[in-house]
Amino acid sequence: MFITLTSPLDMHLHLRDGAMLQTVAPLSAETFAGAIVMPNLVPPIETEEALLSYKERILKASNSETFTPYMTLFFKPTYTKEFLESLKDELTAIKLYPAGITTNSEGGLSGFDVEELRPTLTAMSELNIPLCVHGETNGFVMDREAEFSSIYEMLASNFPKLKIIMEHITTKESVALLDKFENLYATITLHHLLITLDDVAGGMLQPHLFCKPIAKRPEDRAALLKVALEGHPKVMFGSDSAPHPQHAKEACGCAAGVFTAPIALQVLTELFMKHSSVQKLQAFVSDNAQKIYTNITVPKTTITLDERAFVVPDKYGEVVPMYAGETLKYSIVI
Ligand code: NCD
Ligand code: ZN
Repeated sequence: MFITLTSPLDMHLHLRDGAMLQTVAPLSAETFAGAIVMPNLVPPIETEEALLSYKERILKASNSETFTPYMTLFFKPTYTKEFLESLKDELTAIKLYPAGITTNSEGGLSGFDVEELRPTLTAMSELNIPLCVHGETNGFVMDREAEFSSIYEMLASNFPKLKIIMEHITTKESVALLDKFENLYATITLHHLLITLDDVAGGMLQPHLFCKPIAKRPEDRAALLKVALEGHPKVMFGSDSAPHPQHAKEACGCAAGVFTAPIALQVLTELFMKHSSVQKLQAFVSDNAQKIYTNITVPKTTITLDERAFVVPDKYGEVVPMYAGETLKYSIVI
């Protein structure tokens, strides 16, 4: 049986820079038509010059005629409407990180004062630039995302015309928020559809499954799986594929991030097939995103998968992928 997907999109992706970019960009470009590229480099992408030159490096490294990087800036409350307007053709979204909450987010926001945020967020709503949010507080690790709900509610109600994307949601509380506010949307990763905290730390510690936000409880995973499998129009696939070199993961002080880009479509196909929902996969991996991000142009590509074993490599360059060495059920037809 063949499964064909049209213009699959990865709406949350870390491509890094330098040698790592050279390794990972072609892997995403091989299967995805485009991706929202996260700005958490060192230093973060905060200027026009940094954004345009990073885009150039991505295009060069991706080795593809079609792959489209959708660029983002690292949120600063000092961005003016004039600045954002001048960048509008190159800028797809802005990513907001609370300070220090995850990899390379030290320069993020240390408080959520509506009046301080108002000028930039109003400009973004007027210019149709979505706000992507890493929604975690610095509270107890299992409660961080649920505690952030009140901030999502504050943002959604104060800026009703702003599209707010709750990135990589992991809890049933976040799923419930989607239906409470018209302007809230979400990305869901592959790994959060598959694992719980038990897989990360219930047996021997699995550094390659350690990420922010940490995987939660079975009931949270079930809530995520439900909206993904039904093709809920407010959720989109965003891998949050976040490569770190093996030595940074298999270390005392393990870096957060799961690397899934080269296996994402194969595993999603297997998962949606298993749940007899493969007819909803197109919505989850592309159509919903195109309806939510009305400011993107998507190249028309097709990718076909078939039921043929794919043995996941132990490593891609210096990076160990999720399911390294394991056999997947579906392969990409080349
Ligand atoms: C991401 C990274 O490594 O950049 N890590 C992660 O665990 N997901 C950052 C992020 O999206 O939180
Ligand atoms: Zn991320």
